[in-house]
Amino acid sequence: MKNIQSVRGMNDLLPDQIAVWHRVEAVLRAVSERYGYQEIRTPMVEKTALFTQSIGDQTDIVEKEMYTFVDAGEESLTLRPESTASTVRACIQHGLIHNRQIRLWYMGPMFRRERPQRGRYRQFHQFGIEALGWPGPDIDGEIIRVGERIWKELGIQGLVLEINALGSERSRAAYRQALTGFLTERKDYLDEVSRRRLHTNPLRILDNKNPGVQEILKDAPVLQDFMETDEQEHFESLCSSLEQSGISYRINPRLVRGLDYYSGTVFEWITDQLGAQSAVCAGGRYDKLIANRGGKDTPGIGFAMGLERLIELVMLQSEKVETQPIHAYMIDLTDRSDITTRIAETLRDRGLNVIEHCGGGKLKNQLRKADQLGAVLALIRGQDEAESGVVQLKPLRDNKPHSNVPVEEVVGQCVKTLMYYIEQEKIHIKN
Ligand code: HAM
Repeated sequence: MKNIQSVRGMNDLLPDQIAVWHRVEAVLRAVSERYGYQEIRTPMVEKTALFTQSIGDQTDIVEKEMYTFVDAGEESLTLRPESTASTVRACIQHGLIHNRQIRLWYMGPMFRRERPQRGRYRQFHQFGIEALGWPGPDIDGEIIRVGERIWKELGIQGLVLEINALGSERSRAAYRQALTGFLTERKDYLDEVSRRRLHTNPLRILDNKNPGVQEILKDAPVLQDFMETDEQEHFESLCSSLEQSGISYRINPRLVRGLDYYSGTVFEWITDQLGAQSAVCAGGRYDKLIANRGGKDTPGIGFAMGLERLIELVMLQSEKVETQPIHAYMIDLTDRSDITTRIAETLRDRGLNVIEHCGGGKLKNQLRKADQLGAVLALIRGQDEAESGVVQLKPLRDNKPHSNVPVEEVVGQCVKTLMYYIEQEKIHIKN
């Protein structure tokens, strides 16, 4: 029979990769809480219309990348490609933004049927925050500061923050018209993708990477010139708030984002360290999404970061994250192993990580196993030890001699030995 492999672009996370994920997840959770954001968990499957209507049916995600299926009840459902639409849906459905504002965060798998490559997967993970109910630039600054704090706490350097303002629907409509007119006159010089977008989503032509198209765009009208005074003031206020916080940024007038719900501020943190996939975190305002989804007119802003990309950066830039230590490995060679089990459970009561050897075998092989797992101590109870009422405590990570400890003192002695190692900072054994 042929081996069944995982789906292309959907990866297993193996035990030796987990430590760094746990560390990053813990930082993301802690930073969210430090800014007063609360966690929300929404289903991985939603009605397809939620995404087509929120993200926009002319976008790459909706046109080509969604995992959509019809279930047994003839309903069209989709594996979530992102979480802003679901978060907004949940907030409207449960009245979370009824006359109040809310700060939320989420983390979990998303699904897009893109062409897999380094940093781009079909199942990937996002951490995101969303702040619903605040129209002013102060929350824009806060959202960006949350991102900055995450880089700081994870020790990530070298990310570049790009920002732009997309204006309101009205100013964007006027700009779209001017841009379409400009590009239609130069249609023959555009590539095929841009020509197709000319009448569906002309703003997306701005982030076309084709050098020929970029050359034409040099003289194109600029969105800022179409923005109302209050929209310009909002953007300027955000810029000065970033400067006051010491956050450097680059204004990129070509930054338009690939999802239709954005209006006003948009931003991305990019890197040149991950090959072709440069965006580590991206987001912006979606002031009309909630009203368009049937909620009361409520502004929103947020971002999402790709955890695979973030973790690759962490692994490139910071020291190795140790896996969970095994503090003690229990070896019992007698036929009364209940005593050893009792000691193991008491050690676990004290918060230690303990493995009891299963499956018997020679002492030498059991010790080899303990060593392979990186245990700090082996606790050995053979026939001789059983008869004398002791347990042999054997350090495995240095050359210290073993000692025989009375059964009733073994837990205390283990803790003492481990504390000694922690104080010496010789061996990584902290949880
Ligand atoms: P997005 O730009 O589509 O925005 O995705 C955000 C981040 O998710 C990207 O910058 C990237 O790090 C990661 N990402 C996206 N697709 C993949 C993939 N195929 N493989 C690996 N990582 C990927 C959103 O999803 C918006 N919901 C962000 C947002 C939240 N805007 C406002 N609130």
